[in-house]
Amino acid sequence: MVYVASTTAPVNIATLKYWGKRDKDLNLPTNSSISVTLAQEDLRTLTSAATDEGFTQDKLWLNGKEESLDSARTQQCLADLRGLRQQVEAQDPQAPKMSQWKLHIVSENNFPTAAGLASSAAGFAALVVAIAKLYQLPQDYSEISKIARKGSGSACRSLFGGYVAWEMGENLDGSDSKAVEVAPLNHWPNMKAAILVVSDMKKDTPSTSGMQLTVKTSDLFQERIKNVVPQRFEEMKQAIRNKDFPTFADLTMKDSNSFHATCLDSYPPIFYMNDTSRKIIRLVHSINAFYNETIVAYTYDAGPNAVLYYLEENESKLFAFIYKLFDKVSGWETKYTEAELNDFLKE
Ligand code: PMV
Repeated sequence: MVYVASTTAPVNIATLKYWGKRDKDLNLPTNSSISVTLAQEDLRTLTSAATDEGFTQDKLWLNGKEESLDSARTQQCLADLRGLRQQVEAQDPQAPKMSQWKLHIVSENNFPTAAGLASSAAGFAALVVAIAKLYQLPQDYSEISKIARKGSGSACRSLFGGYVAWEMGENLDGSDSKAVEVAPLNHWPNMKAAILVVSDMKKDTPSTSGMQLTVKTSDLFQERIKNVVPQRFEEMKQAIRNKDFPTFADLTMKDSNSFHATCLDSYPPIFYMNDTSRKIIRLVHSINAFYNETIVAYTYDAGPNAVLYYLEENESKLFAFIYKLFDKVSGWETKYTEAELNDFLKE
């Protein structure tokens, strides 16, 4: 008999960045981080996992193409999940011995994998949760997040919707390095994210090697993890709980800048942002100065694409500027007349 379980996991975008590993094999970070998980209908991975006594090999199909499951990280996730399943089987002699059987996994993103958007977080989160469901594991999502973390660090945060913290933990074995919910998505329902795809090229330096270079060579990085992030972690959680957008936005922008500054301080330096990314940063600061209020925040991961956070009621204020700036760029043609745009800007 074939047993099947499915799940979806959305992409999460960090507002307090994870950058630096204290243990590369276990994906243990050098600082705690915070992210916002996008809504399911936006960017997400849908994964189904099946198991049957008759399957002869573990197999994976990603966006319709068969892919290898051989990476050490994926193997570690599968081994951990099978270990937990064995405990279920030991407690219930009637339970099918799925831990001994092979898995077939089908996974699909609803966004182009090559768009330069973080897909590994949603991918590993969906993989681990689909198998945890298939195995009927009793562990809660924070426990399961430790397995997703071993696949890709930031994946642990995609197990929860809304506002999520990844607590770095202290233990050498990673037993306390896990994701926890700060607030559910509906806590702040008018929060919105816009992704400006600046380039869909593959990123310059993969995150793992980039982090290692920064940890090894940047003095600024030491300052960041000791004296900057710990306090910001508490302040950002508080801003989220209080729905204090200006504080949340200021912390988000400062942290993106701090992370990219440590990349620039790595030797040789790592450049993730390009001229267009910097143009957007200047635009966001001009918009906030124009309205004399922080209504929009930018953040950049290990690539040039911008994610903007804003409150729904400020959407037209923000987009008036975006359309004005990117009017000649395909995909960004304005839906407003020149007069309407000028009206928005006058408000
Ligand atoms: O989980 P990784 O190895 O893809 O690293 C993610 C690093 C950043 O996206 C830059 C920051 C973060 O916290 O997601």
